[in-house]
Amino acid sequence: MAIRLLLGALALATAVCGQKLVTYVEPTSTVQYSLAIPETAAAPFDVFASIVAPSNVTWAAIAFGGCMLRSPLVVAWKNDTNILASPRWADAYHPPDLYNGTTVTVFNTSTVNATHWKANILVSGGSSWLGGSVKAFGSIPLGWAVSSLPLAAPATINSGIRYHNVGKGHFEVNMTNARNTQSAFDALKTSPI
Ligand code: HEM
Ligand SMILES: *[C@@H]1O[C@H](CO)[C@@H](O)[C@H](O)[C@H]1NC(C)=O
Ligand SMILES: *[C@@H]1O[C@H](CO)[C@@H](O)[C@H](O)[C@H]1NC(C)=O
Ligand SMILES: *[C@@H]1O[C@H](CO)[C@@H](O)[C@H](O)[C@H]1NC(C)=O
Ligand SMILES: *[C@@H]1O[C@H](CO)[C@@H](O)[C@H](O)[C@H]1NC(C)=O
Ligand SMILES: *[C@@H]1O[C@H](CO)[C@@H](O)[C@H](O)[C@H]1NC(C)=O
Ligand SMILES: *[C@@H]1O[C@H](CO)[C@@H](O)[C@H](O)[C@H]1NC(C)=O
Repeated sequence: MAIRLLLGALALATAVCGQKLVTYVEPTSTVQYSLAIPETAAAPFDVFASIVAPSNVTWAAIAFGGCMLRSPLVVAWKNDTNILASPRWADAYHPPDLYNGTTVTVFNTSTVNATHWKANILVSGGSSWLGGSVKAFGSIPLGWAVSSLPLAAPATINSGIRYHNVGKGHFEVNMTNARNTQSAFDALKTSPI
């Protein structure tokens, strides 16, 4: 018990002192997207992402190439009191298929409460793909999409999803400000961001 508390305190201190995330709040939906990466020269690298959405958002997603088509997508949602996040890919403006080039890990620092859900995830394989990659420095375009239409089967990662009726679009973040030492990056996996 004592060790556990001590580790918790250290993780929190690291989180407060060390981590650098870039955050974008999309004004229409109020969904918040935060990203962090390790101090790497170039893709491929893991990406830590946190998506915070109001409860009436059924899914929210990031497109790593900026546009919907032909780049890794990660779609997150709440399943009752836990969070699921699903790697997808779209070759056309249709519901995207599951994508096996990306692995998504949902951390137990993800939360669901009366007003919001928060998906804290690690995305491996989302920073490079056939035809593109995410830069490790400077400004990059990302895509976002938000829906309030019900999922077909929220308990499963391959659930059908419906159109982003709330909105979709592009945003830019400066990856230079998202760079973390490996230890600070690793702490994101357990600290309550
Ligand atoms: C059922 C699932 C989906 C359907 C049916 C769908 C359909 C479409 C359609 C028809 C468009 C063309 C523009 C428009 O309608 O206004 C579009 C654009 C767009 N979608 Fe989706 N979409 C889906 C899921 C997603 C997901 C998961 C993302 C991830 C972020 C996404 C991101 C975007 C973006 C950023 C655009 C703007 C144009 C572009 O960048 O290509 N969509 N979508
Ligand atoms: C991933 O999907 C591609 C394209 O559908 C397929 O060729 C490949 O075998 C799949 N890889 C794995 C590990 O399932
Ligand atoms: C969350 O996961 C970490 C390791 O990944 C573990 O040490 C910790 O006990 C877990 N916390 C809860 C509340 O389950
Ligand atoms: C609910 O979760 C959101 C997102 O993490 C947080 O900002 C908010 O403070 C939480 N509300 C309560 C009452 O804990
Ligand atoms: C990104 O941030 C770095 C560090 O703050 C800054 O030097 C650089 O000019 C920024 N790049 C862009 C495109 O804003
Ligand atoms: C969610 O509820 C809030 C507060 O009632 C409302 O302003 C917002 O438009 C709703 N969003 C969606 C996606 O339905
Ligand atoms: C989805 O939520 C249900 C109900 O809480 C739970 O039994 C199930 O294990 C969850 N599924 C996943 C994949 O987490």
